Amino acid sequence: MTGTPADSSRAPIGAAPGAGLAPVPIADGVHWIGALDPQLRRFDLILRTANGTTYNAYAVRGSDGVAVVDTVKAEFADDFFARLERVARYDEIRVIVLNHLEPDHSGALPTLMRRAPQAKLVISKRAPAMLKALLKTDDQEIRYETADTGDEIDLGDRRLRFLHTPFLHWPDTQCTYLVEQQVLFSGDVFGCHHCDRRLFNDRVGDFRFAFEYYYAHIMRPFKTHVLEALRLIEPLPLQLIAPTHGPILRERPRRYVARYRALSGADQALEPVPAHSAPLRTLLVFYLSAYGSTARMAEAIAAGAEGVPGIRVSLYDLEGGEPGPFVDLIEAADGIAFGSPTVNGDAVKPVWDLLSSLAVVSLRGKVGAAFGSYGWSGEAVPMLEARLRGLNLRVPLAGLRLKLIPTDAELSDCRDFGRALAQALPGVSAGAPASAEPDRPKPVIDFADLS
Ligand code: FEO
Repeated sequence: MTGTPADSSRAPIGAAPGAGLAPVPIADGVHWIGALDPQLRRFDLILRTANGTTYNAYAVRGSDGVAVVDTVKAEFADDFFARLERVARYDEIRVIVLNHLEPDHSGALPTLMRRAPQAKLVISKRAPAMLKALLKTDDQEIRYETADTGDEIDLGDRRLRFLHTPFLHWPDTQCTYLVEQQVLFSGDVFGCHHCDRRLFNDRVGDFRFAFEYYYAHIMRPFKTHVLEALRLIEPLPLQLIAPTHGPILRERPRRYVARYRALSGADQALEPVPAHSAPLRTLLVFYLSAYGSTARMAEAIAAGAEGVPGIRVSLYDLEGGEPGPFVDLIEAADGIAFGSPTVNGDAVKPVWDLLSSLAVVSLRGKVGAAFGSYGWSGEAVPMLEARLRGLNLRVPLAGLRLKLIPTDAELSDCRDFGRALAQALPGVSAGAPASAEPDRPKPVIDFADLS
C-alpha cells in the first residue's frame, strides 16, 4: 500500500480544487480518483465544516476490466475525470458501482455513462426509483443491475462483493467489499467532512471531531440500520475502509467500526438506574415559565404521571439546560411533554431551540404532548402540537391550555393530563392507572367555544 499525492509537498493541506490531479494509489490495483472541496463550509445546509470535504471515488483494476466505485459532485467532475483518465481508458471500464445516489456522489455519473457506454451500472436493490428520479429518466434509457448482500462482480483476479446496507443515510445505500484486497468501499458510512489532501487517516490532521460530528448528524437517526450494517461489516477482514468523504482509513480501520458500534448502542449517553419495578417507561416534562403558571402546570402534570406504576418522570426547566444533553435524554425516553407560555403569539425560543435539535434522533413511536399558560390568545400549544406531529411523535391528548394563573381545579386537570399521558406511553398496562378519570382529559378551556 502506498502513499500520498505526488505533489503533496507543493500544495497546502486543503489545496484548491484541481490542484494536483494525480490519482492516489490506496491498495494493489486501487486508486483514489475523487475530488477535494476545501472551500465548502456548509454541507446540505445542516452540517458545518471548518476545512471543507472530499468526494471520494475509486478505480479498481482487475485482470478482466476496471470498476469505478462512486463518482463526485457535478462541479468537481473535471477533477474526477482527469484522475480517472490517468489510470484507465473509458473502454476498459466494465462496471460502475454507485454505493449511494446522493448528488455529491452521482453528479458525474451521467457523463461517465456516456463516455463508457459499455459499462454496467450496479446499484442497490432499493436504488432504482431514486436513480430514475435523480436522472429524470426511465428504465428504457438507463441500464442498470441491482445488487443484494453476497452478490459479486468478477474482475478476473479480484471480486467486488456487495453488502445491502440501506438507510445509511438514504434508502439506496450499500457497501462494496473488494474481497482479495480486503477493502471496504463504505459510502457515507465511516466518512466525515474533513478535507486534507494527505488523504490517509495516519497522515491527515486530527479529524476525530469531524468523524463524531458526521455520525451525530448523518448516521445517528438511523442507529438501528447502522447496527444491521455492522452485522455484515464486522466479520469482514479489513485492510482499509474507503468512505466517500474524508480520510481513507488504513491505520487500524477496525477501531472506526468499533466506534460506530459504541455510538449506536442503546442508552450510551446514560445508563438508567435499575428500576424498582419493570418494565419502566420514561416521561420527560420540559417547560419554560414567565411568571410561574406554566411551571405549576408542569409540576402537576409530572405529579399525575408519577402516580402511574412503572413510569419514571423527569421534570426540566429549559431555563437551566442546554439542548445537547436534553437530546440524549429525549432519544432514550418514551414520552415528551413541552410546556410554553404564549409570548407574542408564539412558543418561546428555548422550546423551539430544543425541538429544532431533534432531527438527529429517531422519534417515531414516542408520545408527545404540549401544554402552557397564556394571557389572551394561547397559540403556543397548538403550534407545539403541530411541530411534535411533524417530528413523527404520536400526540394522543389534546393540548392543555389554561388562562393566566391556574386554579386548584385546573391543577387537578393538569394531574389528570399527566396521568393520561403516562397511560398513553407504549407498553403501559391498561390496568396501571389509579385514576377513575377517562383517558382523554377534557381541556380546561375549549377554544372551539370562544369567539
Ligand atoms: Fe455524501 Fe449522502 O451523500
